[in-house]
Amino acid sequence: MKSLQAILLLMTTAAFAQKTTVTKAPFGNVAHQGSAEIFTLTSADITMRITSYGARVVSLDTKDRNGKTGGVVLGYDNVDSYIADPKTYFGSVPGRYANRIAKGKFTLEGRQYELPINNPPNSLHGGTDGFASRNWQGKAIVDGVEFTLVSPDGDQGYPGKLTAHVRYLLRGNSVRIEYLATTDAPTIVNLTNHTYFNLGGDGTPSILDEQLTLDSDKYTPIDPTSIPLGPQALVEGTPFDFRTPHTIGSRIDADNEQLKNGAGYDHNFVIRGKSGDLRPVAKVYDPGTGRVLHISSTEPGVQFYSGNFLDGTLPSRSGGKYQKRSGLCLETQHFPDSPNEPSYPSTELKPGDMYRSTTTWTFSTEK
Ligand code: GLA
Repeated sequence: MKSLQAILLLMTTAAFAQKTTVTKAPFGNVAHQGSAEIFTLTSADITMRITSYGARVVSLDTKDRNGKTGGVVLGYDNVDSYIADPKTYFGSVPGRYANRIAKGKFTLEGRQYELPINNPPNSLHGGTDGFASRNWQGKAIVDGVEFTLVSPDGDQGYPGKLTAHVRYLLRGNSVRIEYLATTDAPTIVNLTNHTYFNLGGDGTPSILDEQLTLDSDKYTPIDPTSIPLGPQALVEGTPFDFRTPHTIGSRIDADNEQLKNGAGYDHNFVIRGKSGDLRPVAKVYDPGTGRVLHISSTEPGVQFYSGNFLDGTLPSRSGGKYQKRSGLCLETQHFPDSPNEPSYPSTELKPGDMYRSTTTWTFSTEK
């Protein structure tokens, strides 16, 4: 009898340990868009906060190899700071088309469309007023939060009324992000998450010592305005070869035209394997704290951006400023400028079809 009780207690404790709690609180007002909310997701391993403003990750706390908790993403603690910073896209879901479209122009079903040029001469992350600056509708769901945004026909120049959903689900040491979208007329869509990671924890000034592994044999070289040239290139023998772990800083200053074009790493890597299958994308390891992040995705590509445009002017959570290369982004995505490059996987969405994309972030530690 005693042992049965013990077993039952063990089972309840295990079930309880796996449970994720979700709470909601106000996060401040967004002009003409109502109040933003902030959701806190807590598991035994992770606490993360996500706001409706930009459907963005505000903070994410994990333990290091000694069990000490620390924040591993860049961000702000109030909505006004996000509104005042339209350039970094900290933690957000950019859209309707994440990354660049050359000269803000594309043709779909014989019609040409023009988008705002907010990263001259190109359109970046959906335009001047893209999804990252929208106050999404949020609701708590089992293990997480779901955000919904209705983008009307003609919004930022894009055709068709698009209804987008983003779900963040926290289970134990893993975060799952699911993107869904439908449209009422042919359009293009490419959603991602633009979190800047620094596994060293809040206040760590650089990501250059973090070790990166990418499941990519190829990448898409860019022109000096960061638009892919078209053909895919092998990473072999270049500073873009992360098939085995390399610290980000070890080759970032190499005499290489592509690194010059990106002002460091700011390139789309082609993920090995079949697009649509959830498969490994990247591993980041911080030798200082032992923290490890594994990323998997159903997307064909990932933008590895080494935080080159952070310039030491934005206030950091730990009281200082966010320095150049103090965070790194691994934005799972369709390739930049796909609407203008027929050889790339299509980003077109038709009425009756469902856009689906899934990315997971799994945190652990190593010695
Ligand atoms: C993406 C781009 C970068 C930069 C950041 C935001 O990662 O590829 O060039 O614009 O967003 O600062």
